[in-house]
Amino acid sequence: MASGLIGILTAGGDCPGLNAGIRAVGKAAHRMGMGVIGFLDGFRGLVENRTVRLDDAALSGILATGGTILGTSRDKPHRIPVANVGTIDMRPMAVEVYRANHLDCLVCLGGDGTMKNAYRLTKEGLQIVALPKTIDNDVPCTDTTFGFDTAMAIAAEAIDRLHTTADSHHRVMVVEIMGHAAGWLALGAGLAGGADVILIPEIPYDIDSVAEAILNRERRGKRFSIVAVAEGARPIGVTPAGAAPAVEEEPDAPEESAGDGDDEGHEDEGGLMISRAARLAHDLQVRTGIDARYTALGHVQRGGSPTAADRLLATRLGTTCIQYIGEGLQNVMVAVKGDGCEPVPLKKVAGKRKLLPLDHPWIDSARRLGANLGD
Ligand code: F6P
Repeated sequence: MASGLIGILTAGGDCPGLNAGIRAVGKAAHRMGMGVIGFLDGFRGLVENRTVRLDDAALSGILATGGTILGTSRDKPHRIPVANVGTIDMRPMAVEVYRANHLDCLVCLGGDGTMKNAYRLTKEGLQIVALPKTIDNDVPCTDTTFGFDTAMAIAAEAIDRLHTTADSHHRVMVVEIMGHAAGWLALGAGLAGGADVILIPEIPYDIDSVAEAILNRERRGKRFSIVAVAEGARPIGVTPAGAAPAVEEEPDAPEESAGDGDDEGHEDEGGLMISRAARLAHDLQVRTGIDARYTALGHVQRGGSPTAADRLLATRLGTTCIQYIGEGLQNVMVAVKGDGCEPVPLKKVAGKRKLLPLDHPWIDSARRLGANLGD
């Protein structure tokens, strides 16, 4: 395709590197003679036809900026919330807008939810190429996602900072790290930051094992401990909310199944959602007799400028996306494969989530270091 018009949107939670991705898609498209329009606020902006023209000026000066110049939302085209009405299936509007704008392709930057929504729209006739982004690193069929490296660096730095105050006060510091139902971020940051205990959703934890690890450290003269907890980590016997579809689900399956609490680290206590990691800090203090404190890194992990690695990754994915569109490839995700990229059909990606395999080298490394993984 030597000319034409492509649309682009960012959907799901934001992450560092989105603007680098938008810039790469836009600049590479312009060089191929294509025009680019952005849809605002994810799929909601698509169904409402809220657009912005992405010319050279709009793409200038955004490489190193955080967030997304297009805005984002978690709205799904087949279930858009409408005030006083409920949710409406707006896929027909998406098709209408796509046709009215005479788009040749829609580029969607998003995580596992976006892949599913994009796939649903391909079934309505839209031509889509998607780029994998998320701090959670849980998109399947790709080595990694952009946003992850930056969030890991932020969380590792936070653990560094917690070390000095933990050491000064001889405390147990429990730090809650994002990642939804996957442990990539907590394990990566925990290893990079030298956490003593790392709890991830893939390995249900036994609080007695964690307390014993902390007491063992004290016996060895270490008067503080750092416990890195993925928000989705759970004690043995507690069912994850997304347990059933966590690894593989049908693209049209319900979003979440019932379980004890959500994947963002909360438990329902009589209608009040309380933090599981905060409770863990309290319980560890009771069990060990050592003063404990809880820190939630929260959205700080998603904010600010992307690392050089994330800028590079988003740029590679964005330019490859335009290469694929030029070659006529459609309805694929641009996956990271080593130093290169490969197209993966959206159908293969939709409805799946990549958890940490239990034989992953990072888990092996943590065990060899002597970190407690809660089991
Ligand atoms: O998917 C990215 C992520 O930051 C998860 O790690 C976290 O569980 C979730 O989004 C938080 O969502 P929100 O920003 O909507 O509160």
